[in-house]
Amino acid sequence: MGFIQFKNVTKSFGKTEVIPDISLDISKGELIVFVGPSGCGKSTLLRLLAGLEEVTAGTVHINGEDVTHRQPKERNIAMVFQNYALYPHMTVEENIAFSMKLSGVPKAERQKRVKEAADLLGLGELLARKPRELSGGQRQRVAMGRAIVRDPQVFLMDEPLSNLDAKLRNHMRVEIRQLQRRLGTTMIYVTHDQVEAMTMADRIVILDKGNVRQFGTPQEVYCQPANTFVADFIGSPSINLLPAERISHATLRLGGAVDLPLAPECAEALGSASAFIVGIRPEHISVNSGSSGNGAAAWKTAVTLNELLGGESLLHATLGTESVRVKMTGREAFAPGETVSLSFNAEHAHVFSEDGSVCLCHSQDV
Ligand SMILES: Nc1ncnc2c1ncn2[C@@H]1O[C@H](COP(=O)(O)OP(=O)(O)O)[C@@H](O)[C@H]1O
Ligand SMILES: [Mg+2]
Repeated sequence: MGFIQFKNVTKSFGKTEVIPDISLDISKGELIVFVGPSGCGKSTLLRLLAGLEEVTAGTVHINGEDVTHRQPKERNIAMVFQNYALYPHMTVEENIAFSMKLSGVPKAERQKRVKEAADLLGLGELLARKPRELSGGQRQRVAMGRAIVRDPQVFLMDEPLSNLDAKLRNHMRVEIRQLQRRLGTTMIYVTHDQVEAMTMADRIVILDKGNVRQFGTPQEVYCQPANTFVADFIGSPSINLLPAERISHATLRLGGAVDLPLAPECAEALGSASAFIVGIRPEHISVNSGSSGNGAAAWKTAVTLNELLGGESLLHATLGTESVRVKMTGREAFAPGETVSLSFNAEHAHVFSEDGSVCLCHSQDV
C-alpha cells in the first residue's frame, strides 16, 4: 500500500467540478511532481492532501491512516508556497524557529534544530538577518528551513521557485532535489514547468483539467507518452504531431504526402482504424543536405526558418500540409528557402488514436 493514497478523490467548488476522479499511490521517500498547465488543479490537489480544502468525495490516506477529515495540523505535513510569507520583523533564526516556539518545543531543542537546518541549507552566517536583507534564493532557503525543522512526514511545495529568475531557479531546483535525497522525506512538488518536472521528479503526475493523463518516471512520460496531451506537454522543442491516414495495412500517409511503413506488430496494434496522429520528436528527424534521406519516411522540403540555439539549432520546415520542427546538433546552418532532405525511422514514431486519447504503438526508443 502506498505511503500517500488518493482514492477516488473528487472536488467541486459549488457547481464547478475541478477534480472529476483521481486515484494515486505514492511511495515513501519519493519526490513526486504534479505538473500541468495553469488551472488544471495542481494546487487544489495539494491543498486536499494538506487538509486546506475538504474533498467532495473519496479518501486520502497518509502512512496507512485515513486523514480525509483531519485538520491540517493533525497531518504532520509542511508546506512551502510561492510567496514564502516570512515574518518581516523577525530574524532568519526566529522565522525558522517560530512554529516550534508555538508548539512548545523547549529552547535548547529549538536552537539545535535551527542550527542543523541552517547548516544543511547554508544559512549559518545569516541567522541574525531580517528577510529584507536576503536575496530571493536565501529567502527561499529560509522558507525551506522553516519546513525542515518541523520534521514532517511529507513536504508539499507549490511552485516554490516561480518568483526567482531563471538562473537561480535552475540552481535551487538542484538544491531542493539534493536536500530531499539527503532527508529522505516524501515530497510533492507542484510546477507548471515541464523542465522542472523532468529534472527533479522520481515520478511525474501529468494533470489536465483535473484528470491524471499519465503517472510515470520522467523516462516513461518522455519515451512512452500515453496520449498526445502528454506527448505535447513534455519535451522542448515539442514533439511533431502529424495527422496520418492508413493507405494499406502497414503503411501510413503523413500530412497527405509522406509514406511511413510500419513494423508488423505496430500495424497489428492499430486494429481496423484508418486515421491516426503520428508523433515524432524533433531530435529523431535527420537532415541530409545531399540528395535523399535514408529513413523509413523520407521527403524533400524547403527550410522555413533556422533558429540557432548555441550548440544546437532548430530547423522549421514542412511535411505535406504540416509544419515540422527538426532539432540539429552541430553548427550546420540552412538558409530559408534552401532545400533539405528529411527522414526518420518508424521505430521512433508514436502512433496515437485519431482523437489523441491513447497511444496504440510506442516508439522503440527506450
Ligand atoms: N476556492 C475556489 N473557488 C472556486 N474555484 C476555484 C477555487 N480554487 C480553485 N478554483 C478553480 O479550480 C481550478 C483549478 O485551480 P488550481 O488548483 O489553483 O489550478 P493550478 O494550481 O493547476 O493552476 C481553476 O479553474 C480554479 O479557478
Ligand atoms: Mg496553482
